[in-house]
Amino acid sequence: MRSIRRQLLFWLLAIVLLGVGIAGWLIYRQALAEANELFDYQLQEIAAALPAEPFSQILSSRDTGDEGIVLQIWNRNGVLMYYSHPRAPLAPRAELGFSTERTERGDWRVYGAIVGDNVVQLAQPLSVRNRLAANVALRTLWPLIVLLPLLGVAVWGVVGRGLAPLRRVTGALDTRHPEALDPLPDSRLPLEVRPLVHALNALLERLAIALDTQKAFVADAAHELRTPLAAVQIQAQLVARAHDDAARSEALTDLQAGVTRATRLAEQLLALARAEPDGREAAQQIDLDTLLHDCVAAYAPLAERRGVDLGIEASEPAFVRGDAEALRVLFNNLIDNATKYTPGGGRVDVCLHVTDGHPVVQIADSGPGIPPEERERVFDRFYRVGAGANRVRTDVAGSGLGLAIVRRIALQHDATVTLGEARAGGLLVTVTF
Ligand SMILES: Nc1ncnc2c1ncn2[C@@H]1O[C@H](COP(=O)(O)OP(=O)(O)OP(=O)(O)O)[C@@H](O)[C@H]1O
Ligand SMILES: [Mg+2]
Repeated sequence: MRSIRRQLLFWLLAIVLLGVGIAGWLIYRQALAEANELFDYQLQEIAAALPAEPFSQILSSRDTGDEGIVLQIWNRNGVLMYYSHPRAPLAPRAELGFSTERTERGDWRVYGAIVGDNVVQLAQPLSVRNRLAANVALRTLWPLIVLLPLLGVAVWGVVGRGLAPLRRVTGALDTRHPEALDPLPDSRLPLEVRPLVHALNALLERLAIALDTQKAFVADAAHELRTPLAAVQIQAQLVARAHDDAARSEALTDLQAGVTRATRLAEQLLALARAEPDGREAAQQIDLDTLLHDCVAAYAPLAERRGVDLGIEASEPAFVRGDAEALRVLFNNLIDNATKYTPGGGRVDVCLHVTDGHPVVQIADSGPGIPPEERERVFDRFYRVGAGANRVRTDVAGSGLGLAIVRRIALQHDATVTLGEARAGGLLVTVTF
């Protein structure tokens, strides 16, 4: 696993090492230039200090110190008078002034001069100077190299301290009760960690809202299910208590209706739970024209029984991307409402057209419609238009979930649902994709 601490340590130490390397190289170059200057001066000084009288014989070996300086002296006739290191790999020739000679044992710095009657040549291996410069660089830098492990330990500790707030946040989240969705404290947090905690808090807030909604939904659902189930229980008792066949068959019809209502409620609850706003199914291309014809055909027998004329008034090819089953539930709920709230003898017209590239589905009925002030509330779960209003069919059974389901599914498909007044006076529902 990648660790910020280990990465920081690695890179900081690598950068420091690189810096030490570059500094070492620069110090070495500087020291080398100075050593060259110094040693050249020394060669000149030694030459100048040599005795000026002619040598008559090869001198006894002269001590030239640690610098490895090789001395050669020729007389006017070119006869070698003196050679301090006879085994030195130098060419037997004299060149006046400074020069660098390449030999099989490395480069040599050579200085030639005329001293009195003689030609003097002093030579020194360049490696002496390189060694000196390297020593200077090393001596300057070794404290830094020794300090490197200390620096590593310090970086480790400091980064650990810097990451402590992250550990605090992790600890606070770890020990949390799953229901505790209150925000994490964000005081005393470093700038870098604060956005993370803010994002977490925003998520917690959304989770809290979602959880509240879920709880309210479950509570509502349980409450709503109790009513039809209690009715079913009473109807079952009535069946048991019926004295004659006529009463029993009447009670049984009621019982069947009660069971149908309870089943419908359970189905609607399930549809609502499935139509989670973010529970997007794998989207597919849907032929709206065909889907609407299917829905209308499926509702035709029920509409006929209710005495309502259901039909498709106009339609044209239109396609949307989404979940076909969800859209079927949407249209079924709208057609169900239109046919069930429209009194017998009325009509329900479905039409589909494309406006500015957007498919628009309209379902118009000749029923009582919904008063403008109620048109927003009917989308609430379990809300049904009050019996107090001068409604034509308040006796119609329903759970008040249909339009809530319609709105959720529409949301999933980026569609809007608006309620208005139909030409026939009833409700006009417009779904715009
Ligand atoms: N076409 C319509 N004409 C008149 N009123 C309507 C129409 N559609 C819906 N409503 C009113 O809006 C309310 C909410 O409708 P919704 O479809 O959400 O619930 P429901 O039909 O009562 O129950 P469910 O559809 O879950 O069985 C209905 O109770 C009804 O009063
Ligand atoms: Mg309905």
